[in-house]
Amino acid sequence: MSNDKREAIGVIGTGYVGLCTAVGFAELGSEAWCVDIDAEKIAGLQRGEVPIHEPGLAEAIERNRERLHFSTDLAEALEHTRLLFVAVGTPPTYSGDADLSAVHSVVAAMPPSDHHALVMKSTVPVGTGEAIERIFAEQGKDGFSYVSCPEFLKEGTALADFLDPDRVVIGDDGGWAGDAVADLYRPLLSAEHGGKGRSELVRTDVASAEMVKLAANAFLATKISFINEIANVCEETGADVIEVARGMGLDQRIGPKFLQPGIGFGGSCFPKDVSALKQLAGNSGYHFQLLGAVIEVNELQKRRVIGKLEKHLGSLVGKHVALLGVAFKPNTDDMREASSLVLAARLQAAGSTVTAYDPIAEEVAAEMMPGVEFASDALGAVSGADAVVLVTEWDEFAALDLAELAKAMTGDVLIDGRNLFDPKAAAAAGLRYEGVGRASR
Ligand code: UDX
Repeated sequence: MSNDKREAIGVIGTGYVGLCTAVGFAELGSEAWCVDIDAEKIAGLQRGEVPIHEPGLAEAIERNRERLHFSTDLAEALEHTRLLFVAVGTPPTYSGDADLSAVHSVVAAMPPSDHHALVMKSTVPVGTGEAIERIFAEQGKDGFSYVSCPEFLKEGTALADFLDPDRVVIGDDGGWAGDAVADLYRPLLSAEHGGKGRSELVRTDVASAEMVKLAANAFLATKISFINEIANVCEETGADVIEVARGMGLDQRIGPKFLQPGIGFGGSCFPKDVSALKQLAGNSGYHFQLLGAVIEVNELQKRRVIGKLEKHLGSLVGKHVALLGVAFKPNTDDMREASSLVLAARLQAAGSTVTAYDPIAEEVAAEMMPGVEFASDALGAVSGADAVVLVTEWDEFAALDLAELAKAMTGDVLIDGRNLFDPKAAAAAGLRYEGVGRASR
């Protein structure tokens, strides 16, 4: 994208965010020195094996082979780069706080330096940057700079999101490192910020940058829980949530995105970040009421499917229910906080047999869903089923011939957890159809 010599970067943690950051900056012309403590993962990456399913990532790694270096040794990254992007996991603990142990291991591993900076990509509670700067000072490493630069990529479109962000947020307290990070992103920024792209640039303090990330994810999750509740009321009152969302979304203040009702949000970010922000507020003495409701609505939404099945089948004991899709959303094999996990476990507890099919996620899902029998295609999974639940809206399910599906089943109930199918087409195929928030008139 640019012929100028681009600054090399270090990336610590080669999960979703780390790999996409390394590959994204490599696409822009930087060398990336990637470090992970998982020797097996690094060995795989050195052989060109990509540990996650993410469209376009394997090709981009191949394209940038020369610029990408993978190692378990931090020393190489320290030697070749000034900016060390931190992209290690911050999973939730039992208390709902973020587990920062991986972040703190990275901090502890840093040597004293006056020409290096940690650039935090991992989602961390507000105040983490300040705490890390305090630790650096205590350990005589106060020359080490710190920048907060949260990542907003979505799984399934991660690389494209990295290369075409709505905004780049950089939080720092002055000094060279924030400017250096802004320079790295320059090609993606709008002309106003000296770039050739579309992205806005938000330069701010560390705490505000940390809060942008948590607040953005909590707001999007709130939007989903809101439309899910509207959908539930639509079911009671005869309105159709698809029409309602269209009418609402045309108001520019609301916008049409994230207004799709379903059987709850999942994934590695929303559940964790909503709970981390709620907990963060609670720890500082503020009761964040709204987020409590967002989480509760999401849990209930996953379980509503059970009620719909009971309405049609009566007792679920001895029934056979097939799940179409198990990943938390299409185009990923990520099963973290997937609604299918709760659904399958509830169904089994109610005495049903559960079969499933997912185009990509079976390998990851199988061990998380004991007792669920996976088929190699959709018709195989629904064969002999009393009811089918569409859990993940993979494209290939939209193309299913519903008459064939109905023929393969023993029963005739289709619960469409993502409003993927046309209710009329389902009825024409002889199926008893229930979407989310679409009155069955
Ligand atoms: C999200 C954020 O979008 C991203 O900015 C952040 O960096 C990480 O978290 P991701 O988890 O990859 O990204 O998935 P996303 O596409 O946002 O979907 C999250 C969940 O919300 C999925 O379970 C999806 O099915 C659900 N969802 C999304 C809805 O139920 N309705 C919608 O309208 C949109």
